[in-house]
Amino acid sequence: MSPHPRRACSRNAIFWTTALNIVFLTAGVLFFLEGVRLQRNVESEFISRVTSFCEFYCIFCNNNRTNKSIILAPASGVISYYPRLFNLSSEEAMHYQGHPTPEITAAWDRITDDGIRSILYLRISCSVRPMRIPVEMLPLVNTKDDETLIKFAEEDGGGVMASVGVLHQLHCVNLLRKATYGEYYKDDRFFTVPAEELRGHLDHCVELLRQTISCAGDVTVLTYRWHGDKPHPNFDKIHQCRRFDDILDWALEHAVHIPASHMVRNITAGGSH
Ligand SMILES: *[C@@H]1O[C@H](CO)[C@@H](O)[C@H](O)[C@H]1NC(C)=O
Ligand SMILES: *[C@@H]1O[C@H](CO)[C@@H](O)[C@H](O)[C@H]1NC(C)=O
Ligand SMILES: *[C@@H]1O[C@H](CO)[C@@H](O)[C@H](O)[C@H]1NC(C)=O
Ligand SMILES: *[C@@H]1O[C@H](CO)[C@@H](O)[C@H](O)[C@H]1NC(C)=O
Repeated sequence: MSPHPRRACSRNAIFWTTALNIVFLTAGVLFFLEGVRLQRNVESEFISRVTSFCEFYCIFCNNNRTNKSIILAPASGVISYYPRLFNLSSEEAMHYQGHPTPEITAAWDRITDDGIRSILYLRISCSVRPMRIPVEMLPLVNTKDDETLIKFAEEDGGGVMASVGVLHQLHCVNLLRKATYGEYYKDDRFFTVPAEELRGHLDHCVELLRQTISCAGDVTVLTYRWHGDKPHPNFDKIHQCRRFDDILDWALEHAVHIPASHMVRNITAGGSH
């Protein structure tokens, strides 16, 4: 038995109180540091600087490499072709058509990035996944470096804002689709703009799609079926397709997430806005 049970007890109490205080204090500091670290991670994820590439592949090349009619694009490295049987009533097709549901909207958002996430990152051209083209690569993509280009700040890695064509074209299809279900999408950010702006956007989309589709020049042979006494084209034919998922993956992999507030005008080498 201890001769001083009370003192021993209070010493014990002091020891444990102190120990607990140290534990809680340490935990508090660790939580604080973890909070700071998480915050940093969120920020560094927000401004992703990793995207740069050096390889530009031909999307249209003459045999004579010195000929000017040469079109380069970094994403063309992932292009591959395959025969695809179109099926307008397949299970996959049903994910994209019919009266809108949250699932149909989400399916379109996936291939166009028209979703909410991009608004957080970017107001400018937020419906595509912007990527970075280093300024010195501009001649390879037939672009002149001038003050009209939207550029990324030097501290965000520099270069100009760019994106892949097919994503704009799909965005246009999605916009027209939404317009045909105007009531359902009336609160969509593309429809809550002045009427004139929306009209311009829709007209621009129709024209972009006209040029895109004639450019692709699909010559697949379609046959006809009797629909009562009327001929009805059969669209379910095998087409030569580019693997879209590979292109989408490439765009995601090379997307930069830089807020619009960071975009700059007229940056000359080493200069500022
Ligand atoms: C390539 O094109 C240039 C000018 O366009 C021409 O002078 C040259 O002979 C061509 N070379 C070949 C191998 O065709
Ligand atoms: C490149 O080739 C195309 C088609 O062969 C020809 O029309 C064009 O004039 C050529 N351009 C140059 C710069 O040689
Ligand atoms: C298209 O998909 C539907 C539903 O899966 C199927 O019943 C039909 O046979 C398919 N058509 C062709 C041409 O494969
Ligand atoms: C940027 O702006 C400065 C001053 O306004 C101008 O002198 C310069 O030519 C511009 N540079 C470019 C690349 O547009």
